[in-house]
Amino acid sequence: MKSIQNEVQSRRTFAIISHPDAGKTTLTEKLLLFGGAIRDAGTVKARKTGKYATSDWMEIEKQRGISVTSSVMQFDYDGFRVNILDTPGHQDFSEDTYRTLMAVDSAVMIVDSAKGIEDQTIKLFKVCKMRGIPIFTFINKMDRQGKAPLELLAELEEVLGIESYPMNWPIGMGKDFVGIYDRFNNRIEQFKTEDDRFLPLNEEGGLAIDHELNTSPLYEQTLEEIMLLSEAGNEFSKERIAAGQLTPVFFGSALTAFGVQTFLDAYLKFAPQPQPRKSTEGEIDPFSNDFSGFIFKIQANMNPKHRDRIAFLRICSGKFERGMNVNLSRTGKPINLSSSTQFLADDRATVNEAVSGDIIGLYDTGNYQIGDTITTSKDLFQFERLPQFTPELFVRVTAKNVMKQKHFHKGIHQLVQEGAIQLFKTVRMEEYILGAVGQLQFEVFEHRMRNEYNVEVVMERLGNKIARWVESDNVDENLHSSRSVLVKDRYEKYAFLFENEFALRWFSEKNPDVKLYNPMDLR
Ligand code: G4P
Repeated sequence: MKSIQNEVQSRRTFAIISHPDAGKTTLTEKLLLFGGAIRDAGTVKARKTGKYATSDWMEIEKQRGISVTSSVMQFDYDGFRVNILDTPGHQDFSEDTYRTLMAVDSAVMIVDSAKGIEDQTIKLFKVCKMRGIPIFTFINKMDRQGKAPLELLAELEEVLGIESYPMNWPIGMGKDFVGIYDRFNNRIEQFKTEDDRFLPLNEEGGLAIDHELNTSPLYEQTLEEIMLLSEAGNEFSKERIAAGQLTPVFFGSALTAFGVQTFLDAYLKFAPQPQPRKSTEGEIDPFSNDFSGFIFKIQANMNPKHRDRIAFLRICSGKFERGMNVNLSRTGKPINLSSSTQFLADDRATVNEAVSGDIIGLYDTGNYQIGDTITTSKDLFQFERLPQFTPELFVRVTAKNVMKQKHFHKGIHQLVQEGAIQLFKTVRMEEYILGAVGQLQFEVFEHRMRNEYNVEVVMERLGNKIARWVESDNVDENLHSSRSVLVKDRYEKYAFLFENEFALRWFSEKNPDVKLYNPMDLR
């Protein structure tokens, strides 16, 4: 049995940030294969498409082919225990996707080499940037014709504002893809070859052996670009990678598993183990004996017969043991983490032990809220509050049946408190407006209002809006207009919902005294 120190040091917990179709499922699957966590290629993919959905949890998720067990995947590789947290995207994009990024220690960003940096990647990147966590970039689909590698690096810097250091560099691409020039391991890794997969480089950076590549124009071009990178590119810096200021970039092809192991080895070398986390009692050391963690996601069971939910807990210190007694810091209430604890990695039903960096699922009958801290420590400290994420989609909501007002209000307030959706009230009419980052949140809200609170709701789509909070607590309510709707959030803070960028700019020019901010731009 390893000591808690060794256990924690072996943990690497990350999420993949990418736009749909960049190759997240394919890469995850290849990583799990390396770790021996799955035997067959196609397992993760099958889950995605719903072929083998194993779980009864959450009807909506099931329809979309995601199972709860795939929310966290764990594998052992080379002495490390790796936790991959899923970040649902596209139709399943929600605040939970952002919150998952609060629970990881690093992120892997997959970029489709033909598409470059896409929308959803930008959004998720911003959240990682806010936390200052290291970001490792995998440029995928090199077996296809894509953008020029130098252009992709420029995009990273221009669109995301992050400096990059290519750990390797492609030789050709698409049908001419020869392999990668591996600056980090000083070798060339060939794409289509059974033998000689790796060719050594000499001290000058050229091939150390006689090889036909020496006469290849594609290789020559690679050497020129490598020279350019060495002269004009960023310097490698472990410290800047750890601080999230420099992203190491890897090229490869997830589908053919090319460059994936090279990526994984380097990732494990530079990705951080669980770090101390800020709390109301100062930093909490992951090696501390007191157990602690925070809830970053609550998944409701959409089956009306089963009201229970799963709360996802990121462990931040100590060791989890089944049946242990903890306290919920918000209320001081003692809770026993009994047999009702489910481990969410792979398909093992229960976990007996887990340490900082690991994620466990707790059956919840309504005790937990998102952001809650539980701990065995006598000081009922709380981890830093999770940030507010800027909603982009809005609906006006009312109860279909006016006689159901009481249930309607109770339902909304509980779901808002739980973190399922954001609530705003218009200042003038006190109408209820719900804000979300993804459509799924409205669907879940509607479903749960019907099944848990017995209320049919009417949601009138207001579409996309740009939400900006007001710094001051005093706002001239006459500034409200149809293009800049003045609302208050659940903490009674003023915010404007702007119709579009133009309306926001126009407002800011007309009202320079009203200081606006986007909570996601602050850190
Ligand atoms: P996602 O989870 O990020 O949404 O992406 P996913 O892995 O499902 O990949 C999206 C598509 O891109 C899939 O094709 C997948 O096979 C393909 N793909 C992933 N990595 C690579 C790669 O390195 N090279 C090439 N050429 N393609 C890649 P699909 O046609 O949508 O699905 P399928 O029919 O292949 O399963």
